[in-house]
Amino acid sequence: MTTTRLTADQLLTTVRRAKNKTLAVPPLLKKYALEKSELDAIIKTIRSWGYKLRYTSKLIKLLSTPDALIDTEIRYGLKSRLIGQKLHSYQTVKSTNTIAANLAEQGEAEGTIVTSEQQTKGKGRLGRSWESPPQTGIYLSIILRPTFKPEQAPGIAIMTALALAETAVKFTDGRVQIKWPNDLLIEKKKAAGILTELHADNNKINYIIVGVGINVNQTASDFPDSLKKNATSFRRINKRKLNRVELLQAFLCQFEKLYFKYKKTGQLSSLSKIRSYSSLIGKPVELQNGNIKINGIAKDIDPTGALIVQFPDGTMQPIRSGEVTVVKNNNK
Ligand code: BTN
Repeated sequence: MTTTRLTADQLLTTVRRAKNKTLAVPPLLKKYALEKSELDAIIKTIRSWGYKLRYTSKLIKLLSTPDALIDTEIRYGLKSRLIGQKLHSYQTVKSTNTIAANLAEQGEAEGTIVTSEQQTKGKGRLGRSWESPPQTGIYLSIILRPTFKPEQAPGIAIMTALALAETAVKFTDGRVQIKWPNDLLIEKKKAAGILTELHADNNKINYIIVGVGINVNQTASDFPDSLKKNATSFRRINKRKLNRVELLQAFLCQFEKLYFKYKKTGQLSSLSKIRSYSSLIGKPVELQNGNIKINGIAKDIDPTGALIVQFPDGTMQPIRSGEVTVVKNNNK
C-alpha cells in the first residue's frame, strides 16, 4: 500500500481548515503512516515559518499565523484566478523586478508573482532606488504577457495605480490619491510606487514586469532623511501595524479585475475612477523631461493612460512620461 507523504504545507492547510483549528494527532499519524518523530519534524518546519502551534501527543492547535510574505501564507485565502496563482517568495533579493524578468525570459507564465521581504537594490523610476527595509513593506513583481501592442502598455502603470488606490481605501481612512502616472499618495505623501518594465521585440510584447513597492509597516525611522518629508506608510497614517498578507491578497485581486478588462481592449476602462483619485487633474503643473521644464494645467487622463495637459497657448497635448509636480500658488 502506498501512502501520500504529508508535507508541512499540507498539514498547515489541514489544521487551518479544521474545526477550532485543531487536529487529533493519533488519526493523523495513522492516515499518513507517520512516525511521531516525523510529525515532530514537520511541526518544527511550520514553527520555523513563524506559525504558533500547541502541539501535544494528542492534538495540534493553530494559535497564530505570522505576517510573513511566504508562499503558504500568501496562497491561503487568495481569491484571484490568475495573478499570484504561481508565486516565488524570497527573504532577500536585489530586486524582485530583476528576478521576475529572469523568470519571464525562461518562459514563466503570465500572472506569476515574485515577492521579497527585503530588497538590497530595489529599483525606482527614472533610475532612482527604492528603499526596501526588511519585514515592513511589500515588494512585489508581476509577470504579464498580454497580446496587445507595445504602444498599449503604458496604461498598465496607471491601471496598477488604480488597483492600489482601490485597495488602499479599504485599509486606511487617510485620503488616497493617485499621482500620475504611478504613485499612490496617502494624505499627500507617497505610500507606494510602481515601476513597469516592458520587454518587446518586433512590435510584439514578450512580457511586462509590473513592480510594486508598498510602504506598509515602516515607521518614520525606517525612511532615510531624504524621504521623511514626502514618504509615508499605512502604519504611520493608521497609527497601527497592518497585516501585509491581507493587503497583498486584496491588491492582487483588484489588480486582476482591472487587468482582465484592460487585456480585452488594450486600454483603460475605469477613467472616471482614475480621475476621481487623481491628485493632478485641474491643477497647474510643471512637467520635467530631462532638463526641460514646461508649465501647463493638467486636464485629464486619456484611455491610453496619457496625461492631457493644456499649455499657456491653449493647446492640449497628451504627456506620456516624465515627472509632473503641482505648482504651488504662493499668493494663496
Ligand atoms: C517608484 O516610485 O519610483 C517605483 C518604485 C517601484 C518599487 C518596486 S519594489 C518591487 C519592485 N522591484 C523593484 O526593484 N522595484 C519595484
